[in-house]
Amino acid sequence: AEDGYEMWLRYHTVADNNRLKEYRGQIKQLVVEGESPTLAAARQELQSGLSGLLGLTVPVQTGLARQGSVVVGTPASSPLIAGLDLGDALQAVGPEGFIIRHTRINKRDALVIAANTDVGALYGSFHFLRLLQTHTSLKDLAIESAPRVHHRVVNHWDNLNRLVERGYAGLSLWEWGNLPQHKSPRYTDYARINASLGINGTVINNVNADPRILSDQFLEKIAALADIFRPYGIRMYLSINYDSPRAFGDLDTADPLDPRVQAWWKARTEKVYSYIPDFGGYLVKADSEGQPGPQGYGRDHADGANMLADALAPFGGVVFWRAFVYDPAIADRFRGAWDEFLPLDGKFRENVILQVKNGPIDFQPREPFSPLFGALPKTNTMMEFQITQEYFGFDKHLAYQGPLFTESLNTDTFAKGEGSTIGKLLEGKVFEYTRTGMAGVINPGTDRNWTGHPFVQSSWYAFGRLAWDHSLSAEAIAEEWIRMTFNNNPAFIDPVLAIMMQSREAGVNYRSPLGLTHLFAQGHHYGPAPWYEKAERADWTAAYYHRAAKDGIGFDRTASGSNAVAQYPEPLAKLYGNLDTVPEELMLWFHHVSWDHRMQSGRTLWDELVHLYYSGVDQVRHMQKEWDKLEGLIDQTRFEQVKALLVIQERDAVIWRDSCVLYFQTWSGKAIPANYEKPA
Ligand code: GCU
Repeated sequence: AEDGYEMWLRYHTVADNNRLKEYRGQIKQLVVEGESPTLAAARQELQSGLSGLLGLTVPVQTGLARQGSVVVGTPASSPLIAGLDLGDALQAVGPEGFIIRHTRINKRDALVIAANTDVGALYGSFHFLRLLQTHTSLKDLAIESAPRVHHRVVNHWDNLNRLVERGYAGLSLWEWGNLPQHKSPRYTDYARINASLGINGTVINNVNADPRILSDQFLEKIAALADIFRPYGIRMYLSINYDSPRAFGDLDTADPLDPRVQAWWKARTEKVYSYIPDFGGYLVKADSEGQPGPQGYGRDHADGANMLADALAPFGGVVFWRAFVYDPAIADRFRGAWDEFLPLDGKFRENVILQVKNGPIDFQPREPFSPLFGALPKTNTMMEFQITQEYFGFDKHLAYQGPLFTESLNTDTFAKGEGSTIGKLLEGKVFEYTRTGMAGVINPGTDRNWTGHPFVQSSWYAFGRLAWDHSLSAEAIAEEWIRMTFNNNPAFIDPVLAIMMQSREAGVNYRSPLGLTHLFAQGHHYGPAPWYEKAERADWTAAYYHRAAKDGIGFDRTASGSNAVAQYPEPLAKLYGNLDTVPEELMLWFHHVSWDHRMQSGRTLWDELVHLYYSGVDQVRHMQKEWDKLEGLIDQTRFEQVKALLVIQERDAVIWRDSCVLYFQTWSGKAIPANYEKPA
């Protein structure tokens, strides 16, 4: 039975007979010249993939015995490829890119997958398989592809006791008790899944980091994982605890300017490299939500990051320094990161990259972009997206994140005039960033299907594809994923695509439309608690965010309020700062608005709010209805699972709608229009 374990690396025989004939006609044998572990991985993936897809054994050859060879490798590994005239194409795709095209070798037709490096050839191999999995014609095939950012990294929030923070798919994949002796086959499949997208780094432990991760005991285990990931081009990174020198019992301080602290990190880092020679570097959450950091010693983020950067530099390692900081003492959490980091622009070492969440608060269903994007011309800046559905219904709700990612990547920051989109910024094309990247917080665990809800896989897939090329569309990516993960039947693809493409907006509508945010019950972040107003920290309550009152609702971030809107460059500061021009979907992020305010629809704000909450539920019901029609088009196991989860989602959407509408009604004092379903 299908259990989702294969994710999108499903190589079932091509169902379309014409395509199958075409593929069988062109693919007769496989020639992967070269013996590196990476090329061996490519050979194995292609052989099992092509054999599965073609429904026959595709032989691996060394020469070119017949018509129809797939030739894979690099000019260094493969005399056949070295002998081809590929013009400047190889040079153009750089160290990780690849080309796929038809050619003739010894007067015979061949398909070539060529790259400058072995890992480029591996990426090309996965891409080639994707073409077949999605039933793409090989006629006129001419692909040149290269990643747009350097660091394409997944982040795990896995604790050493194997509980996953904000993970909803079982225990951590890393079997610490059995490593390094037992190497679960799952580690290799994990690497394949990531490599198929071009992901080239993984941070395997929680940003709320346990200092023991750097102990020899753990490093030995981590090295075993790194050995498995290496052939797939995936580098190992670790989240570190800033107070490690103290936690190890070696020093009574972690002050980054103290030479003993510097020496401690140099020595520990050397140790890490003795286990993992190509170790990638450290991810650091410092002075954030109670985590230790340089500020505890009167130093700033740059002091803290640079000290680690200096320890890593001799080995080529980098520091991903997170910008997720907010201080309960300041009046608006929105402002926190910008206020702390702006004065530090230009002070970070070259091998530091600031890792910034897409929005100013915290992975909410919709946020405006973090104003740090575009504000730091002299600080390498990368994106952090969340794939695990902390604020999107955990493993229970269907909420494809592709549209959220692309909405963010396509946003124009105006940092250097029009056209300074976040995507371009991340590429280093707005400012001259020397190191670029995208990180995604993923949630896989020991669930058979890795992610809990089968559709969370699609967001992992989308993240990886966009990290490779931010200009792809969320819709095109979703379609690829459906074809690879389920099948190529239009009767299935079209409705599922429609479901996926509305799922994020539905999630916004039944939780927090019009720029409301963080109405979650504190702690778990699953259900609603807009009434929540007392906590150890004001900025952990819902009331802090929505500011509902008799006169209206929303957070005034204009000059009459916190003025956070001034953190955006023009024309955005004006656009967002003016109630007449702010996009309605972001309105209550920036304005406290009267319940009677007239919206573009002609409705009052109150009526519009109610309308959107109700339409969120309607959207889920529509998704449900559409899904239920698909019975028989895919395996019963996954069909039933998604069907059942949609029942839960509908129940929860109603709870969200009714909780929010009824609570806000206590402020607005206005009626719910009579033609609407009565709150449950
Ligand atoms: C959120 C999340 C935490 C996480 C934090 C972070 O606040 O709820 O679990 O640790 O983000 O990104 O550091």
